[in-house]
Amino acid sequence: MPAIPEPTTASTPTPQTLQRRVRLLVNGAPYDVELEPRHTLLDTLRDDLGLTGAKPGCNMGQCGACTILLDDEAVYSCLTLAVECEGRAITTIEGLSAVGGELDPVQQAIVEHDGLQCGFCTPGQALALKALLARNPHPTDDEIDRGLSGNICRCGAYLKLRAAARALAAPTPGPSPAAAGEG
Ligand code: FES
Ligand code: FES
Repeated sequence: MPAIPEPTTASTPTPQTLQRRVRLLVNGAPYDVELEPRHTLLDTLRDDLGLTGAKPGCNMGQCGACTILLDDEAVYSCLTLAVECEGRAITTIEGLSAVGGELDPVQQAIVEHDGLQCGFCTPGQALALKALLARNPHPTDDEIDRGLSGNICRCGAYLKLRAAARALAAPTPGPSPAAAGEG
């Protein structure tokens, strides 16, 4: 009977590190971070950079609490991989107010119109409004509602947020005085 071979003691393979070094531009400042490609931007902002303004609500693209601006467009950071954001401008709620604490006009309007209730959703709502007004400076009520439709609020701050957006909206351009006087 052949001898039973001794079990070989193969050395445990060293786990391959998946860490990658990326440079993220957040609120105008560069951050070099080591992360795995699977890390979401939300986790990276909160856990690696200490920027906790973007909130983990559902973590699956349904609530909008994690909204940030990526090149001025509102996106869900829970559905965005951090490695995809290299070279792009990331703005979180922390970057919306000026250094020194002066509120952005969007934040100021939300305060003045009492548009914040639980507060957990407010950073995302403020950034969604910021993005809406940047691409459409004089939105209709329907457009405001659609602009906020990705930010779920169960307490019903929508009417107050709409009032804030109305207050910020540039007047709809009308006919020039010369054109109005024609005829
Ligand atoms: S936490 Fe990202 S959409 Fe809810
Ligand atoms: S502001 Fe958070 S549920 Fe309405």
